[in-house]
Amino acid sequence: MTLLDIRNLNLAMRSYEGETQILHGIDLKIERGEIWGMVGETGSGKSLTGLSVSRLIPSPPGRYLAGSIEFQGKDVLKATDKEMRALRGRHIGMIFQDPTTNLNPAFRIGTQLVDVALHAGHADPSVLGLSGGASRGDLKRAARRVAVEMLDKVGIPKAAERIHDYPHQFSGGMRQRVLIAMAMIGKPDLLIADEPTTALDVSVQAQILRLIHDLVAERNIGVLLITHNLGVVAQICSHVAVMYRGRILEAGPVGDVLKRPSHSYTQALLNSVPTAHTKRGELKGLSGVMPETAA
Ligand SMILES: Nc1ncnc2c1ncn2[C@@H]1O[C@H](COP(=O)(O)OP(=O)(O)OP(=O)(O)O)[C@@H](O)[C@H]1O
Ligand SMILES: [Mg+2]
Repeated sequence: MTLLDIRNLNLAMRSYEGETQILHGIDLKIERGEIWGMVGETGSGKSLTGLSVSRLIPSPPGRYLAGSIEFQGKDVLKATDKEMRALRGRHIGMIFQDPTTNLNPAFRIGTQLVDVALHAGHADPSVLGLSGGASRGDLKRAARRVAVEMLDKVGIPKAAERIHDYPHQFSGGMRQRVLIAMAMIGKPDLLIADEPTTALDVSVQAQILRLIHDLVAERNIGVLLITHNLGVVAQICSHVAVMYRGRILEAGPVGDVLKRPSHSYTQALLNSVPTAHTKRGELKGLSGVMPETAA
């Protein structure tokens, strides 16, 4: 069964100026084992596509005009709130672009990780390595163990000690790893990562990408990686979708799209990536203005 099948997704958003259509007929299929990069300039609709999959766009301001988003055969746009809560974290893990949804500064790293692990464990104790009849105490102990394991896995040294720290005691790169640990702790089948490495320096970025890559290899999950960075796409993605003005211009295996871009926009996007040979003053911008999103 296809892991994620977005068909003809049309989304409008209401603002004080009235309603404008943002997504125009998005089609995207993600199978297990695939890492899809989604690229496109600011405002092209990448985040709203990602948020739609977890149905995290409130209505209003959002309104789906048409389309479906089947996750493992079930349309999330028709799911109940209860069904969605069971999916989020447990089956669909998300790393958000919006920093305000990140770690809560008032709680220890461990508390925040254990909360997510417990939430997943209540729905399905096997996530924590437990059987159906586990007691509350069993769940708590297992959640703590899994939280330390996951923190260790994302490369936080001395995880068992560091779990007692508050977010401000972690560097930006370490906090980002915690967010990835949080997104992965419920053993999701699909990971949606919205600009997970944009704020990080190059060496940390490489580590995080390797981590995502390894998680895919190990658990055969699917990934939707939203990024501005075509270098990132070339490095770890198996497939890429290029968005422009709320549409997917082209999509397919990364080698095909990057080697033989069929749209002039994709070509321009590729040309705008600086290489080691780019001379000063040669950086190309994309011509044209960012579109009004009105249909
Ligand atoms: N809550 C909202 N209400 C109204 N319009 C919105 C809302 N959120 C986003 N939009 C509009 O939807 C369009 C797509 O936004 P989206 O955040 O998906 O872009 P993006 O491709 O993720 O951009 P970026 O690369 O900057 O993150 C933009 O034109 C934006 O102004
Ligand atoms: Mg975005």
